[in-house]
Amino acid sequence: MENILLRNRTIPEIGTFETYLEHGGWEAFKKAFSMSPDEVIQEVLNSNLRGRGGAGFSTGRKWSFIPKDAERKYVVVNADESEPGTFKDRELLEFNAQQVIEGAMIAAYAIQATAVYIYFRGEFWDIAHNFEQEIAKAREANLIGQNILGGDWSCEFYTHLGAGAYICGEESAMLNSLQGLLGQPRVKPPFPVMKGGGLYYEPTVVNNVETLANVPWIIVNGADAYRAIGTPESPGPKIFCLSGHIAKAGNYEIPLGTTFRELLYDLAGGPQHEGKGFKALLPSGASGPVIPLTEDMMDTPMTYESLVELGSVLGSASFIVMEEGTDMVWAAYKMAQFFKHESCGKCTPCREGTYWLNQLMTRIISGQGTMRDLEILENAATQMQGKSLCALGEFATSPILGTLKHYRAEFEAYVNGEKQKELPASKTVAVAH
Ligand SMILES: Cc1cc2nc3c(=O)[nH]c(=O)nc-3n(C[C@H](O)[C@H](O)[C@H](O)COP(=O)(O)O)c2cc1C
Ligand code: SF4
Repeated sequence: MENILLRNRTIPEIGTFETYLEHGGWEAFKKAFSMSPDEVIQEVLNSNLRGRGGAGFSTGRKWSFIPKDAERKYVVVNADESEPGTFKDRELLEFNAQQVIEGAMIAAYAIQATAVYIYFRGEFWDIAHNFEQEIAKAREANLIGQNILGGDWSCEFYTHLGAGAYICGEESAMLNSLQGLLGQPRVKPPFPVMKGGGLYYEPTVVNNVETLANVPWIIVNGADAYRAIGTPESPGPKIFCLSGHIAKAGNYEIPLGTTFRELLYDLAGGPQHEGKGFKALLPSGASGPVIPLTEDMMDTPMTYESLVELGSVLGSASFIVMEEGTDMVWAAYKMAQFFKHESCGKCTPCREGTYWLNQLMTRIISGQGTMRDLEILENAATQMQGKSLCALGEFATSPILGTLKHYRAEFEAYVNGEKQKELPASKTVAVAH
């Protein structure tokens, strides 16, 4: 399959304005500009493009929610990419900047936005610097800025660097951070697309980098051609990020609906170490439940729906692969630490819950846990579900409950005294049985 997203793999320098133009760059924007904004929204709606930031929500539907009569509207590009094991947006941003800028400008035209903001995670300062230069070239060509292509519509494009918080990838926390407020989620509704819910409380479309990178191809080739890739419910190409115990880690652009076997064996070469089989998979970084990676599921097509049937989520398709011999309790402990660190503290179930999940995991992993601790762990994680203000509170329960469900015996080995890990003094907890 040709690379629709990672065009840098076949055309070096495609991220620069000059090379992008040589290869048909900005033709999609010009075509969109010759259509009415509603026609552009309809085309994206017909393509059934689903958001690549994690939730898989219909992009065309999201755009259609923006009230037409609002005086100010914004597009915010989510380039925070902080999920463990996720590095797809980074390749798009680093090597395909113009495609992302063009996709965002098509979204801006479709909703008649007054400005586009791209919010980068703090570590992407070099990428942000390059973006500023590439945006300036597009502005020079009258594709961004005042009276674009000689028409009435004007739209600026700004870059913004975050300060390195996972929670600022959550769209409403991102909007607060952009406004100079504390990066904490807002109570929803109102949702970002609604008056009162978006950037500066104006209607706003928030889209992931990879989502927007799909848009130019859809406009040039049409919704039918896009839907011909992948499956009816999960159409289009998707970048899968492979890390962990896999022979060839990296980004793979493949159609949704490709099987696990084709990706993990044919393309990525199987488990990392010879003689070992696969054991488990985190399909969505740390934020989705862990599932056993078995021979039975190898011929299953990978789609948004099939991952739910397997008891997890596709999310951002950040596959953290674990082979035989992986200590699943240790993996769950590392994720409990991560979520405790990243909880923003705004709501009690998540602030207190992530603290206690981490305390309990620390006690268990250091060999001081009891069977009663396992019950409390399961109970505390279950109690957090459905009670937190944003999805981080849910994500935090996934590694615990998923691991307990599939690998309970490994937890029992820790509480029965068969296993224990030496932790640094700073990581140990007081034991009061
Ligand atoms: C804790 C948390 C972290 C998130 N991090 C990101 C992220 O780094 N990048 C991203 O695109 N979406 C992230 N999301 C999802 C966004 O809130 C939002 O759904 C997404 O940017 C919408 O874009 P899409 O419709 O194009 O997928 C995160 C959500 C949560 C709850
Ligand atoms: S669920 Fe966690 S991260 Fe989300 S608002 Fe509550 S405390 Fe903050």
